Amino acid sequence: MTDGISNPNVLVTGGASGIGLAAAKAFSSAGGNVLLFDLNEDALDQAKGSLGGGDNILTMAGSVINEADVEAAVSKLASVHGRVDSVVTSAGIVKVEPALTADLDTFQKTMDINVIGSWIAAQQAARVMVDNGGGSIIFIGSVYGAGGAPDRTAYCASKGAIHNLTKSLAVEWGPLGIRVNAVAPTGVRTPMVQELIDAGTYNMVGVKARTPLGRLAEAEEIADACVFLASNQATMINGVILPVDGGWTANGYTMAS
Ligand SMILES: NC(=O)c1ccc[n+]([C@@H]2O[C@H](COP(=O)([O-])OP(=O)(O)OC[C@H]3O[C@@H](n4cnc5c(N)ncnc54)[C@H](O)[C@@H]3O)[C@@H](O)[C@H]2O)c1
Repeated sequence: MTDGISNPNVLVTGGASGIGLAAAKAFSSAGGNVLLFDLNEDALDQAKGSLGGGDNILTMAGSVINEADVEAAVSKLASVHGRVDSVVTSAGIVKVEPALTADLDTFQKTMDINVIGSWIAAQQAARVMVDNGGGSIIFIGSVYGAGGAPDRTAYCASKGAIHNLTKSLAVEWGPLGIRVNAVAPTGVRTPMVQELIDAGTYNMVGVKARTPLGRLAEAEEIADACVFLASNQATMINGVILPVDGGWTANGYTMAS
């Protein structure tokens, strides 16, 4: 393997778009083999093309909340490349609804995809990783995993759960050599955020005002943090929620938005 990536065979859920696609690109640029797993089959084909379409890029369509789909993806990566070393769980959704009128189905779906889906990917991969002597799991949390936001109750609850899932699995699987960490971004320029902007439900002025660096993150900046957490430079990092947020979390100063 090249340049400090100790985990060359990587499963990326939600790999057809946004942060997942950027992570796939970053891992493959560093010499890794990547399996992109996503619900959106057309987007998967485009994503593979955008990554050069080489033998080191595998794809599989499926849902993270379907255990058999995820198990098949893990098996495919393991059978083609011999092992599964790392997972990035980027499949996720956000729905904006006032809590008083929020739909139960929306809440359930958000928890299912964001939390249970991440859990299924982690568990399926970890079962293979133990045979390799270890690996690295990277959840995508959020600054909203540590604080609330209006009209995003289910999303905030799901990201809070991800942050504690990270710590719990880090403690349980550390002795098996599996490191479990999360990145916690603020707003990232991806199709998910663009959809919110288009719907008029994203407070860009407020996000920029609270972020000392004064801008959204680029998906590549989150991807670089994922590659770092999977690398030989992070071998003692376990159970960490790493803010990749331009200082958003550090900022206790209330500014006009
Ligand atoms: N964009 C941001 O500002 C931001 C900030 C913090 C955290 N995050 C988190 O990062 C992750 C990725 O977000 P993004 O902005 O790249 O979004 P995105 O919408 O660009 O990508 C999400 C991908 O997940 C896939 N997906 C959705 N449901 C799925 C399912 N059931 N099974 C498999 N794939 C599924 C979608 O098809 C899509 O390709 C999410 O967990 C999100 O909550 C995003």
